[in-house]
Amino acid sequence: MRTVDIIHKKRDGGVLSSEEIAFLIEGYTKGTIPDYQMSAWAMAVFFNGMTARETADLTLAMARSGDQADLSSIPGVKVDKHSTGGVGDTTTLILAPLVAAAGIPVAKMSGRGLGHTGGTIDKLEAIPGFQVERTKEQFLEQVNDIGVAVVGQSGNMTPADKKLYGLRDVTATIESVPLIASSIMSKKIASGADAIVLDVKTGRGAFMKSLEASVELAQAMVAIGTEVGRETVAVITNMDEPLGPSIGNSLEVLEAIETLNGHGPTELTELCIELAGHMVQLGGQSADAEAGKAQVRQLLQSGAALDKLRQLIRAQGGDASVVDAPSKLPQAPYRVAVPAPASGYVASIDAESLGVTAMLLGAGRATKEDTIDLAVGLKLTKRVGDAVQAGEPLAELYMNHQKPEETQQMLNRTISAFAIQPEPVAKPKLIYAVVT
Ligand code: URA
Ligand code: CA
Repeated sequence: MRTVDIIHKKRDGGVLSSEEIAFLIEGYTKGTIPDYQMSAWAMAVFFNGMTARETADLTLAMARSGDQADLSSIPGVKVDKHSTGGVGDTTTLILAPLVAAAGIPVAKMSGRGLGHTGGTIDKLEAIPGFQVERTKEQFLEQVNDIGVAVVGQSGNMTPADKKLYGLRDVTATIESVPLIASSIMSKKIASGADAIVLDVKTGRGAFMKSLEASVELAQAMVAIGTEVGRETVAVITNMDEPLGPSIGNSLEVLEAIETLNGHGPTELTELCIELAGHMVQLGGQSADAEAGKAQVRQLLQSGAALDKLRQLIRAQGGDASVVDAPSKLPQAPYRVAVPAPASGYVASIDAESLGVTAMLLGAGRATKEDTIDLAVGLKLTKRVGDAVQAGEPLAELYMNHQKPEETQQMLNRTISAFAIQPEPVAKPKLIYAVVT
């Protein structure tokens, strides 16, 4: 087989065989196929697309390119969840204990944050003592013991995707539905998911700006799931504003505790119930998603979900008393209110820009080597649709210094993330569609 023939075939709109796709991904992972040939192939895919079968083959080839988690010693259906591009997306912290409390085994491997996106592993480290590193044996034993473990990714998972994603980033080939869909699904499959619930963001702050494009991506991922025998459901949700008001590690842990307590922010709570309902159904613990949602609402009310969080924290060496005394979480010494520049109504809030602001405050990393401050971040006090008076706070910055120049810069950045208009704005819909 010759790589040039495969590129040629895709360039002319042909359909690649499973063998051709496996050859390409194996060769690229090993380094026998160079970046320039892979770039040409990615561009050919960008223009000519891939069939559902080709996309599934690509997904499996990437999933098998490195280590794969073996969760077979855990009984039950392992349901994983993925959110495409979340800023201040606290859902994993909430869903892990919530669905575990519903009897779904949660064996979760999460990442650290980079750039404007936060990572669940960093957030968990805001809990004093919490250990994110576990041996494979400890990880499996903990899931079998208490039903949930959340650990940092270890080993060499989906190296083909890492390489290809990096290459796409610099060759203008990111925005291809089959390439995005296979990239996301390969990682879920390698981490051992039997079934997958996807939260596909749509809107200004998302990868996919239009509802049509988001539905197309969701359908491509659900089709991959069907092809490879991993039942997949995608929920398409609004990203014209951050999901929850808090962005920052400690702040998001607090938000997760409040949500598991039944006193969380409305939208975050609603989305978690929606996603958890589908997870409970796919895990075989309810007849349908509606029954699953009723079940998890009950677990939020009864305190069972919060108790599962306490168990998770304890099992991983953390101080579970933070659940009842959140002041034990790292606290930022300074708070600065962000005044509204004009009166009117909030029309949109740029989640990505606020993610960058939180990073600049110290909550995230510009490069992988940066260290972060778990206490800092920001909390929105206004959401899209809210009326606002000039001078009223839009948000509050949680800072670790009082340097006037930098503080002003952060205030300006936060203010410009808000679009305020004189005319009233309707509250946006949170959930647009469910693709199964
Ligand atoms: N997220 C991924 O993991 N891969 C993509 O290609 C796009 C978004
Ligand atoms: Ca289906």
